[in-house]
Amino acid sequence: MFVTFEGLDGSGKTTQAALLRARLAAEGESVVATREPGGTELGERIRDLVLHGGHVAPWAEALLYAASRAQHVEEVIRPALERGASVVCDRYVDSSVAYQGGARGLGMNRVLELNLAAVGGLMPHRTFLLVFDPAAVRTRLGSDHDRIEREDVDFYARVAAAYRELADRFSKRIVVLDGARPAHELAEEVYGALREGS
Ligand code: TYD
Repeated sequence: MFVTFEGLDGSGKTTQAALLRARLAAEGESVVATREPGGTELGERIRDLVLHGGHVAPWAEALLYAASRAQHVEEVIRPALERGASVVCDRYVDSSVAYQGGARGLGMNRVLELNLAAVGGLMPHRTFLLVFDPAAVRTRLGSDHDRIEREDVDFYARVAAAYRELADRFSKRIVVLDGARPAHELAEEVYGALREGS
């Protein structure tokens, strides 16, 4: 089982990914929890370049995220799935389609195609999208902002719209959850949806 969590910055997806990992592990399942950008040594270096450097051209940004992802799939995700482990990943292809394809205006289809090539077509079995009002991003984020988190509310509104479009288009894979609800309730819903679907 390959599960991803998606949403705006501050949506609580990292918390949900951790809760799911802990629950599966407690049941004795072999589970690998990982994140993007990052998840490998090269990926963490790319993460640093893309989030903590100066200006990055939009296509350079899309390609760096895709490069990190290609490494991540080859080194971590595919081997884990092949040995029968479950993989829980905080962000994946949908993040690039929403942020670079939608919000940066590179085109959702073009960025999807680029990423499908980078990951050899490997897509998650289930994706949980945590939605909330983009106007609340600022208040949900702390004071320590990376390069992307410094974007304005219009940027986040475009990311949210792109995520909605993805959820409509891939409605079998993507489960939309209300990110304003308490974390423990969301965790129950995530777990239930996975057990139903498996
Ligand atoms: P994330 O790790 O979720 O943020 P943090 O751990 O700092 O809370 O993601 C880092 C940023 O990178 C976030 O603003 C979203 C952005 N991002 C993209 O724009 N495209 C991508 O493909 C990915 C994976 C992340």
